[in-house]
Amino acid sequence: MNILVLGTGGREHALAWRLAKEADTKVYVHPGNGGTELAGFKNFGDLPLTPQRISARAQENDVELIVIGPETLLQEGYADFFRREGFKVVGPGISGARLETSKIFAKEFMVRAGVPTAPFEVFDRESELLNFKPKQWPAVLKYDGIAAGKGVVLAQSSAEIKEFAKRIYKDMEFGAGPHRVLVEDCLPGKELSYIGLCDGKEFVPLASATDFKRVGNSNTGANTGGMGAVSPSPLLTTELESKIHEKIVQPVLSQMQRDRIDFRGVLYIGLMISPKGDPIVLEFNTRFGDPETQAIMMRWEENVIPALMATAQSELTGLAPLKWRRETAVYVVAAAEGYPGKVTTGDMITGIHELNAETPIFFSGVKMQGGKTYTHGGRVLGVGAYGTDVEGARKKAYGALEKITWRGRHFRTDIGLL
Ligand code: AMP
Ligand code: GLY
Repeated sequence: MNILVLGTGGREHALAWRLAKEADTKVYVHPGNGGTELAGFKNFGDLPLTPQRISARAQENDVELIVIGPETLLQEGYADFFRREGFKVVGPGISGARLETSKIFAKEFMVRAGVPTAPFEVFDRESELLNFKPKQWPAVLKYDGIAAGKGVVLAQSSAEIKEFAKRIYKDMEFGAGPHRVLVEDCLPGKELSYIGLCDGKEFVPLASATDFKRVGNSNTGANTGGMGAVSPSPLLTTELESKIHEKIVQPVLSQMQRDRIDFRGVLYIGLMISPKGDPIVLEFNTRFGDPETQAIMMRWEENVIPALMATAQSELTGLAPLKWRRETAVYVVAAAEGYPGKVTTGDMITGIHELNAETPIFFSGVKMQGGKTYTHGGRVLGVGAYGTDVEGARKKAYGALEKITWRGRHFRTDIGLL
């Protein structure tokens, strides 16, 4: 079968890498990046990322299944369009993607579904935000819309609330508006990403994973897209998983049906696990997580294409169980100088060819020029490794990553440790 993975990042590279291991499968990644090309995945050349052009090229190349990576494409209705064109698609249409693209829509959905989530208020005006006096600090402020991971602030003071208001209303960092902001209580606990295939009636969990969001060790410094991941997550116990199913997954599926949301894709439930061990929803994403996907794909052993096809065709009920490698996978991201702030790119990367199948490398911000590889984005690449435990996997992942260098490279040294 021919499969098209849409997107540019390490997540898409990992999906393609895993899919390409299946017999009689050809995988395209568009637009991909220099690294996905280096890894042998063809793209559609300079083709602009418009749904019509992609659909035509996918048809010429006998693509049957399209897996959509980024939320921006889901928000713009690519999944709806490709379905109308007759493709099987992993990725929800606009109505399902709203669970990610509007934090307020997601909160209202959670309230209707009766799912545990932090108490919140919604502000429609700058003055409301500026006059807001939280009961406690930090206060969590969330921009209501796609913000490339930069729309959530844990404000420690009124000055930080003012700074967030300035970014929204003066600097217009998130566009022209109208702007809405959600504020909610800050929850203590540990974060867990619970990610599964969802067809609106059934939810089939993928292997658990935890990502490491802050740029610095011990969760310090600025928020990033994710600096690494571990799978399985050491936080997920059988007891916790049954609570997640009972209190969150089942009510979400029932509410999707009441709201007639045709959800065929990946539902990523971002959870805070309270100190007492109860799961509380922080957010939904409606796509594969990056970098969780890299660690998850490393462990996915069986039933990959049938599971994705069943998702696309609303046939998850009765799907044969998914099988996972028993080892732990640790995946460490290395970033370019300045990330997550102003990034310097164009540095030559060396050492890539020293890795093997047991330490896969997935590319995100990479460009090829004259047969050489250069940094071309904030998160540049990542390296994964397996181990019988977290420490074993960490050792191998860091050993492999050390071989790959460029000027300004930086990474966290505590990925996998919770
Ligand atoms: P979100 O995009 O809503 O998941 O927020 C991004 C990150 O901000 C999360 O991964 C958490 O680290 C943090 N965060 C969001 N909401 C809360 C909350 N209510 N309490 C504590 N941390 C939060
Ligand atoms: N790793 C977090 C995300 O994909 O949103």
